[in-house]
Amino acid sequence: MVISTIILSDTEQRILKMYIEEYKDFRLLAQSFDSDKIYDAVKELSNAVLFVDMDYMEHDYHFISSLCNRYSNLRIVTFTAAPSTDALLKSLRAGASGMLSVPFIKDEFTALANKISDELLNNHKEKSKCRIITVFSNKGGIGKTSIASNLALELAKISKEDVALVDLNFQLGDVTTFWDLKPSFDLTYMVNNSEKINREFLLNTLEKYKNTSLHILADPPFFKDADNISTKQIERLIATLKDAFSYVVIDTSAGFDNKTMTAVYNSDLVLLVTVANLPALRNTQRCIELFKSEISDSNDIQVVVNRYMENDEIDLDDIEKVLGQKIFDKIPNNYFTMMSAINKGVPVCEINNDSNVAKAYRNLALKAADFVYRKK
Ligand SMILES: Nc1ncnc2c1ncn2[C@@H]1O[C@H](COP(=O)(O)OP(=O)(O)OP(=O)(O)O)[C@@H](O)[C@H]1O
Ligand SMILES: [Mg+2]
Repeated sequence: MVISTIILSDTEQRILKMYIEEYKDFRLLAQSFDSDKIYDAVKELSNAVLFVDMDYMEHDYHFISSLCNRYSNLRIVTFTAAPSTDALLKSLRAGASGMLSVPFIKDEFTALANKISDELLNNHKEKSKCRIITVFSNKGGIGKTSIASNLALELAKISKEDVALVDLNFQLGDVTTFWDLKPSFDLTYMVNNSEKINREFLLNTLEKYKNTSLHILADPPFFKDADNISTKQIERLIATLKDAFSYVVIDTSAGFDNKTMTAVYNSDLVLLVTVANLPALRNTQRCIELFKSEISDSNDIQVVVNRYMENDEIDLDDIEKVLGQKIFDKIPNNYFTMMSAINKGVPVCEINNDSNVAKAYRNLALKAADFVYRKK
C-alpha cells in the first residue's frame, strides 16, 4: 500500500517532489495552491500526507488544526524557510506530525517520512498495555521525587518503551529541577486542551530526557493555574496518558488531596515511601489503613523504605512488624550521590552508575515492572 502525498505551495517545490518520489511508501498526487480544495481531495483518500508551505499559508495554524481534527487518516508536515522553535511548537500544537526547514535536508525528510509511514501503514509494534505507578507518602521530603524520577528513567531504559513521568505535586513540584528542564508544555496546557491531546501529540511534544524513551510532564508553573485543575481533568489526563505510554509514573505531593487520590485510585501500583524512624512509620501505618479501607484490591499498595542503612536501630523485620506488611524494596542512604545528582539536574545513574542508589533504583524498576505485569 502507498500513501498519497499532496504539496500545498505556490512555488515549484522541485527538491521536495524529488524526495517524495524517491521515498518507498509515498506517491506524489498533486501540488496545489488552493487550500480550499484540499478538504475535498483528502476526503477521497484512504490515507494521505499533506506538505504545507507555511510561508505561502502565512502561518495559518488554524488551517492545520481544522484539517487534522477532521481527518484521522491525514498527516501534515509543515515547511518554512524561516524555521523557529515557535513555528515548530505551533505546528505540533495544531496537530502536524513535524516541520521541515527549507532548503530541505534529505535526512530530516526521511526521518519524518519513516515515522509517518510507520503510523499510517501500521508497521509499528503494538505498545504494551499501560501500567500506572504512583509514588506517594503522607510525609514531605521523604524521597518521593527522587524515587519517581529515577524509577521512571530506569523503566524507560529496561523496557525501551515510552514512559511518562508526571509531576502532580502542584505546590512544590520539582521534577523539572531534578531534570534541569524548561518544558514547553505543562499540565495546565494538557488539561485545558484535552480534545487535542492524543498519543501522537504526547509522544512528539512532551520533553524527552536525552535519547531515552522517558517523557516528562511538568507541573503548572503558576500556583493559580494548579487550583483550576479539577479531579475530572486529572482523571481524563491519566486516561489519555494510558493510550500513549507503556508506563506512567506519577510523583505526588505529601497529602491526601483529591488530585493525589485520583492518581492513587487509578494506579496499578502505589509505592508508599517511608523511612526507618518511628514518626514516619506511624504515619505510614495510618496511611496503609486508610488506603486499605478506601481502595479496591487492584490498586496495590507497596512500601519502599528510603534512606535505609544496614546498621539502623530499626531493621527491616521491625518495620514489617510495625506496618503489618512485607517491604517491597529499600533504597540505601547516600547523601553525597543524591545531592550531586540534584545539584547537577541529572539522574543518579549519571553521577555514578555503580553507586548503591543507582543499583537500587534499577532493582526497584525491575521489581515494579515485574509486579505490575504479573498482576493481570
Ligand atoms: N536515598 C537517599 N539518600 C540520601 N538522600 C536522599 C535519598 N533520597 C532522597 N534524598 C534526599 O532527600 C531530600 C528530599 O528528597 P525528595 O525531594 O525526593 O523528597 P520528596 O518526598 O519528593 O519531597 P517533597 O515532599 O518536598 O516533594 C533531597 O535532598 C534528596 O537528595
Ligand atoms: Mg517531591
